Amino acid sequence: MNMLVVALLLWCDVICAKSPTGTFAPGLVTCPNTTSLIREGDSLSNSEKSWIDQRKQKTRGALQEYLSKVGLDDSLDLFENSSADVNIAVSMSGGGYRAMLAGAGQLAALDNRTEDANEYGLGGVLQSANYLSSLSGGSWLVGSLVMQDFPTVEEVVLEDPYDVWNLTDTRQLLETSGLWTIAFSVLFDSFTGFVKHLNNYVVSASHKVGIKYDMQRKKDAGFPITITEPWARGLSYQLLQEGEDDYGTSTTFSDLRGMKTFQNYDMPFPLFTAIGRKPNTITYHLNSTVFEFNPFEMGSFDPSVNSFIDIKYLGTNVTNGEPTNGSCVAGFDNAGYVMGTSSSLFNSFLSSLTCPTCNSLNVVLKYFVNRFLDYLSDNQLDIAQYSPNPFKGSQYAGSDSITNNDTLYLMDGGLANETLAISSLLTTHRKIDAVVAMDNGDNWPNGRPLIAAYERQFESQGKSLVVPYVPNEETFLHNNLTAKPTFFGCDASNLTDLIKDDVVPPLVIYIANRPYSFFSNTSLFKLSYTDDEKKGMVRNGFETAARLNGTIDENWPKCVGCALIKREQERQGIEPSDECEECFQEYCWDGKRYEPEGVYYPPVNFTDSGLTNDSFALVGAGEGQTYTSDTEVFGL
Ligand SMILES: *[C@@H]1O[C@H](CO)[C@@H](O)[C@H](O)[C@H]1NC(C)=O
Ligand SMILES: *[C@@H]1O[C@H](CO)[C@@H](O)[C@H](O)[C@H]1NC(C)=O
Ligand SMILES: *[C@@H]1O[C@H](CO)[C@@H](O)[C@H](O)[C@H]1NC(C)=O
Ligand SMILES: *[C@@H]1O[C@H](CO)[C@@H](O)[C@H](O)[C@H]1NC(C)=O
Ligand SMILES: *[C@@H]1O[C@H](CO)[C@@H](O)[C@H](O)[C@H]1NC(C)=O
Ligand SMILES: *[C@@H]1O[C@H](CO)[C@@H](O)[C@H](O)[C@H]1NC(C)=O
Ligand SMILES: *[C@@H]1O[C@H](CO)[C@@H](O)[C@H](O)[C@H]1NC(C)=O
Ligand SMILES: *[C@@H]1O[C@H](CO)[C@@H](O)[C@H](O)[C@H]1NC(C)=O
Ligand SMILES: *[C@@H]1O[C@H](CO)[C@@H](O)[C@H](O)[C@H]1NC(C)=O
Ligand SMILES: *[C@@H]1O[C@H](CO)[C@@H](O)[C@H](O)[C@H]1NC(C)=O
Ligand SMILES: *[C@@H]1O[C@H](CO)[C@@H](O)[C@H](O)[C@H]1NC(C)=O
Ligand SMILES: *[C@@H]1O[C@H](CO)[C@@H](O)[C@H](O)[C@H]1NC(C)=O
Repeated sequence: MNMLVVALLLWCDVICAKSPTGTFAPGLVTCPNTTSLIREGDSLSNSEKSWIDQRKQKTRGALQEYLSKVGLDDSLDLFENSSADVNIAVSMSGGGYRAMLAGAGQLAALDNRTEDANEYGLGGVLQSANYLSSLSGGSWLVGSLVMQDFPTVEEVVLEDPYDVWNLTDTRQLLETSGLWTIAFSVLFDSFTGFVKHLNNYVVSASHKVGIKYDMQRKKDAGFPITITEPWARGLSYQLLQEGEDDYGTSTTFSDLRGMKTFQNYDMPFPLFTAIGRKPNTITYHLNSTVFEFNPFEMGSFDPSVNSFIDIKYLGTNVTNGEPTNGSCVAGFDNAGYVMGTSSSLFNSFLSSLTCPTCNSLNVVLKYFVNRFLDYLSDNQLDIAQYSPNPFKGSQYAGSDSITNNDTLYLMDGGLANETLAISSLLTTHRKIDAVVAMDNGDNWPNGRPLIAAYERQFESQGKSLVVPYVPNEETFLHNNLTAKPTFFGCDASNLTDLIKDDVVPPLVIYIANRPYSFFSNTSLFKLSYTDDEKKGMVRNGFETAARLNGTIDENWPKCVGCALIKREQERQGIEPSDECEECFQEYCWDGKRYEPEGVYYPPVNFTDSGLTNDSFALVGAGEGQTYTSDTEVFGL
């Protein structure tokens, strides 16, 4: 690197990055030289387009390396055609810490920097991917990694030089030892009384360090405070490095633009989603607007909003994108806050204290906690408030219900059952060919996030969404589609009715959480993990994606290779090789559906070959470690 570049980077580190206030509070900056901060959501941004073009220079080679590593050299002819262009994405589902930890192991199995992933995993698929989408618990995983300049999962979990992801009792979000004092604040519907029980609420009173002061600073700067602010800061203490700004108090998501791996196109393009709540309602469904956060922009392709804003200037007062007071705001897109928004399901976490089978509170307290939850909800304190609304008066929006309000209300991306961040990722504008979708939602997954995305493409809001055919939940469970990886949309010729704007839905490589060496169906409400539990979850995630380290099917990495290039082969009119045909026999959904006659009881217990009702023991486990059913069903 020459001196000028170094100087520029250093300068940028000081000037371009972080919140201008140096704290959690957003602050004033000069507006960019454009009349409007927003644009119409009818295409990708120019920034994304040119970034992806550069990334493709890397992924093209990486995919060829992967294919030849797994023995698909014959298929490399594909790349002799200069217009060959394989566009791969990876999507990590939500599901609290379960999704973060199981997902971490799965991601490690896709990463060629993980030694064993090259040996018997899918190492190199991550290097071949242009996009990495996630939401909620998945956004903690992806957000934590990208904001640290993309270290490997192994480094974070095993070597842990940065002291992150310590989820032990003393470091968990909520300090639960004094349940009675929590109860008192709940009793008096005291929001502040309640958040005091977060760990790191006051780290240092004399230096004004801690969640309390962060909230105060943002409030003093004129922004509303809801549960998402303390939630975001609490998460940051676990997910981000201490650094020089107390675990990312002033670190913004758009700071990614200045990070080395991002600038060198050495990570996939990360994106998170959250859903919008219509003012004066508390409902959400498939028509709820799906918002996307990426390093350049925040906004939605859905017709209701159909607008994007430069994410760096969130917090600016705008009307139809024009700054109303002539000045702009930066620092609102705090990295932890973006992850906190995508996982703004605090209400659900808190309800865990009141769930019928939970014993932490007695009946009387449950009553008050429920009342407190209603209070938070009635006052819009349980979700994220993006105020001022970046899309106020947007001329591109198809519906004015969201754009009329001064505030944009956002919440957990997975609440409308779409626990995989697919709606935004699979917009026709991105032309994705294959997506590796890791499902760690529900206690054991049942395909619901794919079903939701599939259905959404037929709703008015899913106008630009393409998703291949998938069956009902009962088929997923009964036909073993969650017991082992399954490919959906194997044949483009079967998908002609789903094509939009000449874009064929991608092939989905669906991999569901299941136990090999650890019972990874931990509760969404499990807020603390011992070091062993954490490593057990991550190891099991690796084994899930690597088909028990190649012992179940040594052809698995090859089969994934066949799936990744299928669309490009179809475009070029090339037939898959015989070995790929065998893979498709083994892994493609056969199109059969299972319709139970009466009430359907999903199978319990697991074997290496699939879900069965036989007895089951963990790999390497001694006698007596048996499957225990986790009865909570939350699609988060
Ligand atoms: C702003 O942009 C316009 C058109 O792109 C250009 O003519 C003008 O000089 C720019 N102003 C500044 C201050 O850079
Ligand atoms: C991982 O893949 C990248 C991109 O193809 C390549 O440059 C790198 O050498 C690979 N690393 C290992 C350890 O295989
Ligand atoms: C996690 O934090 C606790 C308390 O601060 C500490 O005792 C423990 O050693 C840490 N664990 C790891 C794996 O770093
Ligand atoms: C904005 O949304 C809030 C919360 O739902 C609601 O109370 C308020 O009436 C809305 N304002 C307008 C102008 O619609
Ligand atoms: C979505 O909106 C369309 C058009 O308003 C409506 O026909 C459809 O029933 C809605 N779907 C859901 C799930 O609410
Ligand atoms: C945005 O506008 C509102 C209403 O005019 C005002 O109260 C608020 O202070 C403004 N915020 C900023 C950051 O300029
Ligand atoms: C989520 O899926 C379940 C089961 O299919 C269904 O009962 C529920 O209504 C769905 N929720 C939403 C918000 O669509
Ligand atoms: C699911 O897998 C189990 C165990 O391998 C097998 O017995 C069962 O027949 C499979 N079900 C279907 C529908 O293929
Ligand atoms: C599979 O590989 C992972 C990653 O190296 C390792 O942690 C795990 O112990 C292996 N599992 C088995 C059953 O060998
Ligand atoms: C190259 O690929 C394109 C599709 O991407 C196809 O239309 C064309 O026929 C191919 N050319 C050759 C020489 O195979
Ligand atoms: C694809 O189409 C063929 C021929 O129409 C049909 O036999 C097959 O069942 C279809 N496959 C799926 C998965 O729908
Ligand atoms: C599930 O496995 C456990 C442990 O092997 C066994 O005790 C139990 O009976 C099995 N359940 C069913 C329904 O087979």
